[in-house]
Amino acid sequence: MKPSDSTLSAWFTDARFGMFIHWGLYAIPARGEWARGSEQIPDEAYRTFAGEFAPDRFDPVAWAAIAKKAGMKYVVMTAKHHDGFCLFDSKFTDFKATNTPAKRDLVREYVEAFRAAGIKVGLYYSLLDWNHPDYPIDRLHPLRSDEAAKAQPREFSRYQDYLHNQVREILTNYGTIDLLWFDFSYDKLSDEAWRATELVKMIRSLQPNILLNNRLVAGHANVSHAGELGDITTPEQLIPEEGVRKPDGSLAVWEACMTLNNSWGYNRHDHSYKSATQVIRMLAECVSKGGNLLLNVGPTARGEIPDDSIRILDEVGRWLQRNGDSIYGCTIAPFPKPEWGRYTFNVAAKKVFAHMLERQMAPFNLPNMKGKVTRPRWLEDGSEIKINQPWNIAESAPHLCLDVSGWQLPNPHDTVISLNLV
Ligand code: GLC
Repeated sequence: MKPSDSTLSAWFTDARFGMFIHWGLYAIPARGEWARGSEQIPDEAYRTFAGEFAPDRFDPVAWAAIAKKAGMKYVVMTAKHHDGFCLFDSKFTDFKATNTPAKRDLVREYVEAFRAAGIKVGLYYSLLDWNHPDYPIDRLHPLRSDEAAKAQPREFSRYQDYLHNQVREILTNYGTIDLLWFDFSYDKLSDEAWRATELVKMIRSLQPNILLNNRLVAGHANVSHAGELGDITTPEQLIPEEGVRKPDGSLAVWEACMTLNNSWGYNRHDHSYKSATQVIRMLAECVSKGGNLLLNVGPTARGEIPDDSIRILDEVGRWLQRNGDSIYGCTIAPFPKPEWGRYTFNVAAKKVFAHMLERQMAPFNLPNMKGKVTRPRWLEDGSEIKINQPWNIAESAPHLCLDVSGWQLPNPHDTVISLNLV
């Protein structure tokens, strides 16, 4: 059975909200996870960070509690990022957490803590590897200006073996992994350059129920569906206008991944955080278009999720406690987007959720919904909203008008009205 079958992806499309964790040696320079590449940091200089990586405040149980309180249902952490450093204890490299002062298999502790909290567990694995001696020195590589390094022979097939071996390790040594998140294909390095067909076969045989993202064939700007080589399409830092569709026009399983500030890896200088309101609205937008939101945190070198991130996530979680019915298990509604906000829809419960994001200077109406929905209620407290016919809207108009008094939004993040589909 192929995991793209909707039964196997049901947990994922129900979950709707996940936590992305970018953590690695790059938390020490603290200028984002691309530092080694964009600043062309030489090998020896970068390796000194491994000698000082001692995350004394790392507490994955606390991380899982933060995710849970935020209402996140799944998590994806960087087992290895582009810098090649492995948070897991790999047999195939010495550039790993167990060889640092941390002396711990951080992936094992992470998997165990989140699993125990009832959160589905995913691993991110970078296809790029700026540490492996056989990875090509291309336009993104930190040694791209180093003529001596470029003159050294490199044998890409050895890197392919390494990649396959490590994927086998992370899917063998940590029990059930619910989601594998590759990053990313570019230039000629795509698809069979990774020996993708063989790799996917191995992945499916080791973890038959795993979901796989699309980046064995796609770059981070590519929102096309991966066909047989991936189950989840992963638009990055954007929510596509109409969600993501397969070539036959049906809805793809998709997930927008977003940073909370502007960085994935910890960046001490980036204080440009989104507000809780923005996050809540992003989440409602994804769900209204049939997708998920994977929201990132970048823990510090000492192993803590930054306070600003925790504060925002807590607020999102408080909103979700009362309004989660309009998010979890929901998807595109059978009505066009209204001017004042968005709709989400729970198919099984036949419930439509009206997310009121703006208060129009007019009676509050659901355009063309007269006779199509009943029983309007404020979702947050279950209280009744009266249906009324205001004097200034023609009785013949097909609108369903609700008695929503006051010009302020009752909940400035997103006020949700639940309705039963007739
Ligand atoms: C990009 C970046 C990477 C980040 C990822 C998350 O592909 O290269 O640093 O991990 O996006 O989607």
